[in-house]
Amino acid sequence: MPLDLSPHDLLRWYLDAGVDEAIGEVPVDRFAVSTKPAPPPRPVAAAAPPPAQPVRLSHDGGAAARSPHDGGTAAHVAGQCRDLAQLRQAMEAFDALPLKRTAMSTVFADGNADADIMCIGEAPGQEEDRQGLPFIGKSGKLLDRMLASIGLDRTSVYISNVVPWRPVDNRKPTADEVAVCLPFITRHIELVDPKLLILFGGAAASALLGRSEGINRLRGRWFEYSSPGLPRPVAVMPTFHPAYLLRTPAAKREAWRDLLAVRKHIDGHS
Ligand code: URA
Repeated sequence: MPLDLSPHDLLRWYLDAGVDEAIGEVPVDRFAVSTKPAPPPRPVAAAAPPPAQPVRLSHDGGAAARSPHDGGTAAHVAGQCRDLAQLRQAMEAFDALPLKRTAMSTVFADGNADADIMCIGEAPGQEEDRQGLPFIGKSGKLLDRMLASIGLDRTSVYISNVVPWRPVDNRKPTADEVAVCLPFITRHIELVDPKLLILFGGAAASALLGRSEGINRLRGRWFEYSSPGLPRPVAVMPTFHPAYLLRTPAAKREAWRDLLAVRKHIDGHS
């Protein structure tokens, strides 16, 4: 039976299947091309980490270099906020992003702001937009079960998203939208000052780690996240997004491994 898929659906299907890096359609003879000058290095990817060593990353909290559109507004606004209440207010007042105008709510956070663990997802869905809380729809239910499997719940973690406004039709936020919102989540992390970050999905992982690899390459590895407003680097574990796991149950095995690594890390630091 022929499949009636739009290019967008097809791309989404590839992403779900783990195809998140572009390669050529025909094989390349690397011996033949090896005498050519090397292409310039890719801008965001840092060198691959040595095994078992966490990768250190630092974040300047400014999306100005990434986002030509907001003129640094979000970075300026977020930088002025001294506590979570001010940050929430600033985000609710921010309107330099069209997404904000179509969303019903600014989905700020849920859980315990004093917790040592901060979970960060991509962007709110319909239910989250309606209720103003992150991860309360279907993927949120799975997130709760994932957390419960390692003895955590919303009293022991704090939950937010890279993009606080719902993209219409639940589409993935664009790179520009993520870049505009980045100073908010960066400041959010600084104000919460967690000891451990769990990043759910490729959007959160690449935005906050500043890496170009897809989630298949990033998940299950320890990174370190730094920014000027944090007293020390924070351990980071990227893993699959619960929405992806709902569509791809076979990947739960890897997610489970990542969560066990998180549990082990917590036990080793308590
Ligand atoms: N997906 C996310 O990434 N965040 C939410 O809050 C809900 C679904």
